Amino acid sequence: MDGNGRWARARDLPRIEGHRQGVQNVLRIIDAAAREGIEYLTLYAFSVENWQRPPEEVDALMHLLEIFLQQYAHELIERQVRLRVIGDISMLPEHARRPLEKTLQDTAHFSAHTLVLAINYGARAEIVRAVQDYARDVQESRARPENLDWSTLANYLSTAGIPDPDLIIRSSGEKRLSNFLLLQAAYAEIYFTPVLWPDFDGEELAAAIHFFSQRERRFGKTGEQLHQS
Ligand code: IPE
Ligand code: MG
Repeated sequence: MDGNGRWARARDLPRIEGHRQGVQNVLRIIDAAAREGIEYLTLYAFSVENWQRPPEEVDALMHLLEIFLQQYAHELIERQVRLRVIGDISMLPEHARRPLEKTLQDTAHFSAHTLVLAINYGARAEIVRAVQDYARDVQESRARPENLDWSTLANYLSTAGIPDPDLIIRSSGEKRLSNFLLLQAAYAEIYFTPVLWPDFDGEELAAAIHFFSQRERRFGKTGEQLHQS
């Protein structure tokens, strides 16, 4: 969800106002994604690197997370959306962590749609954590290195049980992944759009899905092999 700051700057508004607009956009995109039949929607809300922003901006983002949950927790429940989080939320201020944990609990039984919020998430931190947990299981004889395969390791990641992303959308014209789901993105299609996040609407999502539908996904095979069957 990139481009909130530039959206605000272009209007001579403080960056925080861009984040406020960006949060308002989240429900719109949850609805658009549901209309498109998307079962798992992951939003990169706050990266492990975002703590380095000015403290006032970090505070504002944490307050916006709290406000989002206050405003929209019942909307998620009404829409039967299960909320999940990837990232270490133990580091969040309590005013944001508490409503987050409550919404996780209140929506845990839904299964048709899942909204995954990446908060204090970074792929490298995730992988380090997974390797630590795995090493501990080896040390305590719960796992054997020669048995390790990808699906086992994937269960140590914060995305355990969540399918790999088919499509990754990056708004605001940047063309990089910025430490987002690096291993899970191995075969993802990647869509870059110059549209800033507060302006990214249902039509933009439909355009991204159209791009996705035109891709031939070969997963390492040749095009000929795919067309044979
Ligand atoms: C939103 O956009 C990113 C976060 C939610 C942290 P930015 O704040 O990165 O916006 P730009 O890149 O300055 O435009
Ligand atoms: Mg940015």
